[in-house]
Amino acid sequence: MSVGGIPKNREAWQGSLLPHVAHMRDTHDLARNAFSRGQPAQGVEFADDLERLIREHGAKRIAAVMIEPIAGSTGVLVPPRGYLERLREICTRHGLLLIFDEVITGFGRTGDWFASQQFKVTPDLLTMAKGITNGSIPMGAVLVHRDIHAAFMTGPTADIDLFHGYTYSGHPVACAAALATMGIYEREGLPQRTAELAPYWEERAHALRGLPGVVDIRNYGLIAAVEFAAEPGRNPTRGYDVFCACFARGLLARPTGNVLAFSPPLTISRAEIDQLFTILTEAIRATP
Ligand SMILES: Cc1ncc(COP(=O)(O)O)c(C=O)c1O
Repeated sequence: MSVGGIPKNREAWQGSLLPHVAHMRDTHDLARNAFSRGQPAQGVEFADDLERLIREHGAKRIAAVMIEPIAGSTGVLVPPRGYLERLREICTRHGLLLIFDEVITGFGRTGDWFASQQFKVTPDLLTMAKGITNGSIPMGAVLVHRDIHAAFMTGPTADIDLFHGYTYSGHPVACAAALATMGIYEREGLPQRTAELAPYWEERAHALRGLPGVVDIRNYGLIAAVEFAAEPGRNPTRGYDVFCACFARGLLARPTGNVLAFSPPLTISRAEIDQLFTILTEAIRATP
């Protein structure tokens, strides 16, 4: 919650969040990028906001920069072309670690195993959860660059690496679930399947353009979001009302303000994609 940028998550914890956290601006830019298919063309310069924070705090006082390659729960923000590359370049130049949170984008969601591979930008640390076991057993993990690994492995052999109380770390049941899940992803070729389905998914998502209140559609891999126009004074938002109309028709979306996000199982069929967007269209039309 401290490093995340979701205001609603932070609201209840104001005053008790971690200090020494600064936020870059986000890349949401409807004026230039509404209805982009995949990565928006405009906005590489949003990465320069990091230079502002470096000037303000000094590179020596910044340990790491943490982002989701595609921001998920805040309403699906696909990185503008060149944005992640520029962030990587700034971090490398100033000696800052780059952390990708791939809890949502990992394990096939973008059309490759990880978004970092899809976008060809390599972070220094990469966090993962959810897809690692298909959510069947709780598990989180972090991949680190070998230099970081080495930094923890140089002490006396009797010392515990990254000292703290280990309770569930490397739990055999979770690890077995993760290995089994990865076996299925591999056998069924799910990352490639996502890449093959993505153009159809994109086509169906963008066909919503022109429906009442729709001001943007965003997509990447098997992720999509529909944004509705903000209506001052309307509470709950149109986004929330459409979410309820979808739910009543058997479709679960993820509402955030006026944005509805969709992130279906990677095994979804074309017929189910049709069904999803047919229900969503009906729900939008039925919401006054
Ligand atoms: C992108 C992202 N990062 C991190 C988390 C939190 O993950 P965990 O509950 O495994 O700490 C979530 C949870 O929804 C998430 O969507």
